[in-house]
Amino acid sequence: MKKDSVILGIETSCDETSVAVMRGSELLSNIISSQIEIHRRFGGVVPEIASRNHLKAILPVIDEALSAAGIALGDVDAVAVTYGAGLVGALLVGVSAAKALSYALGKPLYAVNHIEAHIAANYISSPKLEPPFLAVVASGGHSGVARVDGLNKFTMIASTTDDAIGEAFDKVARALGLPYPGGPEIDKLARSGSAEIDFIPHRKRGAQLSYSGLKTAVVNYLHNFEQRGERPVLENVCASFQKTAVDMLLDIAFDAAVQTGVKKLALAGGVAANSYLRKKLEQDGQKYGCETYYPPMSLCTDNAAMICARARGMMAEGLPPAKLDLNAVSYLKIGD
Ligand code: KG4
Ligand code: ZN
Repeated sequence: MKKDSVILGIETSCDETSVAVMRGSELLSNIISSQIEIHRRFGGVVPEIASRNHLKAILPVIDEALSAAGIALGDVDAVAVTYGAGLVGALLVGVSAAKALSYALGKPLYAVNHIEAHIAANYISSPKLEPPFLAVVASGGHSGVARVDGLNKFTMIASTTDDAIGEAFDKVARALGLPYPGGPEIDKLARSGSAEIDFIPHRKRGAQLSYSGLKTAVVNYLHNFEQRGERPVLENVCASFQKTAVDMLLDIAFDAAVQTGVKKLALAGGVAANSYLRKKLEQDGQKYGCETYYPPMSLCTDNAAMICARARGMMAEGLPPAKLDLNAVSYLKIGD
């Protein structure tokens, strides 16, 4: 691989159409066209509507990313695209565009695992970060801790047994009557609340990671108030839920750091944008003598810069490009 290869990355796994251009380690552009406003009135992402809007957005967003980067299509050395995990119809728009570009330009196509890309976002904001480190995965579809032993070597060491943390934020927000996506809304309200409600009394540190039980505990708490004709203090519910959800994950992550001796942790996924999670990671990092990393907000939620960053790692170690029969995959785990 040329040291300063130009990679054009495409991300369409959910409700963001994003295209980015990287030259070597430099991010030249990262355009994100979000459909959040379109899906908000449905309270969540409607897959068919997402696909149609990706179709509308993909070509203009490619053009915008190229012009913002000051790059012509002919300058592109490789094309990278998310092929999973995500909504199949949405993924297919990005995969088809990427295949067409790769074929027309005669340049290699790299098939990127979305969750591994969330982890790789850290390489953009922290160029000195090198494996081994532990990735604290906190997204809408995945949660847990992964050991990263090389640019292309990932091993999941703890995973949620049911819901993902982002899913729990969104479901609890819905129960509270907050708009989609609920994570940022809970984050905002929690800032003026007190984490005084114990949703999981006697929670054992390091117990299995499970978010479904926590969500049910919050919903039951709300029902009890409703039955009494009272209203709970929303801010306190948000702060308490958020603290429990984050602490559960970080306890497991820091215990893993102590056990493995890998004392470097990096956040990955949309929930990495959460202000309490970022602050608590730093505090626990100091307490346990660990280095801590997290990407800037713009690289936490879905974006194509992270797709370029992941492809760089694949190209650096000579991983084979994808063939033109590449298909979209809805379920994909880290390391698949
Ligand atoms: O990683 P992501 O963009 O999508 C997947 O790859 O799954 O994550 C989206 C999730 C949503 O559940 C959203 O509510 C959550 O990230 N999220 C947040 C915050 N910003 C986004 N959760 C908590 N606090 C935030 N500030
Ligand atoms: Zn994501």
